[in-house]
Amino acid sequence: MAFVHRLYTLLCFVLPAATLFPEPRITWQQTEIRLTHFKEQEVYNYSTLLLSEDKNVLYIGAREVIFAVNSLNISEKKHEAYWKASEEKSKECVRKGKSRQTECLNYIRVLQPLNENTLYVCGTNAFHPSCDFLELSSFRLLGKNEDGKGRCPFDPAQSYTSVMVDGELYSGTSFTFLGSEPIICRHSQQGLLRTEYAVPWLNEPKFVYSDVIRAPPNNPDGDDDKVYFFFTEVSVEYEFFNKLLIPRIARVCKGDQGGLRTLQKKWTTFLKARLICHSSENNMIFNVINDVFILKSPDLQEPIIFGVFTSH
Ligand SMILES: *[C@@H]1O[C@H](CO)[C@@H](O)[C@H](O)[C@H]1NC(C)=O
Ligand SMILES: *[C@@H]1O[C@H](CO)[C@@H](O)[C@H](O)[C@H]1NC(C)=O
Repeated sequence: MAFVHRLYTLLCFVLPAATLFPEPRITWQQTEIRLTHFKEQEVYNYSTLLLSEDKNVLYIGAREVIFAVNSLNISEKKHEAYWKASEEKSKECVRKGKSRQTECLNYIRVLQPLNENTLYVCGTNAFHPSCDFLELSSFRLLGKNEDGKGRCPFDPAQSYTSVMVDGELYSGTSFTFLGSEPIICRHSQQGLLRTEYAVPWLNEPKFVYSDVIRAPPNNPDGDDDKVYFFFTEVSVEYEFFNKLLIPRIARVCKGDQGGLRTLQKKWTTFLKARLICHSSENNMIFNVINDVFILKSPDLQEPIIFGVFTSH
């Protein structure tokens, strides 16, 4: 557990020495493996990661700063760009009853590639979410300060996920200051396309991941690319004394333009299904999804989805 915690807060990278132990192990001593660390003085909450495999760069979104480090040796910092919440926004946030030390700061939550030379970046910005463009050649933010509502949560404690698909940002986040309105949406030239604010669509979701799965080229059904979201939500199907949590996968089609009469500016292709992860040996059900990775490779007929689950 101590190690898992360290992974989260310090961001460690296990070097190949770990392959000395072919058996899967759940715990190990820090001295048994060589860890490469990246940590800057006075910088906390290294929470958003984006790997650029062709450039061997790992981008890291932390609290009030974005870093680029060498992905082959993450101790090697290449660039940094500070982005602090303004004094005015910070004061306004404190006036609304939030903590200056922990909440009225800019937590970077979206870090997505827009093109070869630009990342799209959003932060909570003292409960006033904003987005900007990070130019990679100079590693400078352009100072556009776009409204980040629906792209990034207001509250740094709320869950979030996003993925850029062909220049359009898909996000799973909360839409309001109070964080009570969950949303899965797409931002594009045509405006916002979103889930309805209603329990059957999303019920207190904790978002963990999202990604696109491309349709095979020349698909005979004219099938479209699809964007998938992974989250844990509170069940409406079952009512027990306690809230019952269920892991979910939801899907929207990239080609969705919303409805003409009903469902205007809402998804018409939104579907969700339950994920089931259980161990028949001891009859354990793992009903909380914590992370997901989708392995895509030209060698694979279909992408493989890996999920990490725990029990409630
Ligand atoms: C990784 O980078 C750090 C900082 O530049 C350096 O001190 C260290 O020797 C490097 N490690 C390896 C294995 O190259
Ligand atoms: C930021 O990091 C601190 C210390 O590691 C932790 O206690 C806090 O919960 C984190 N906050 C967020 C919003 O992630």
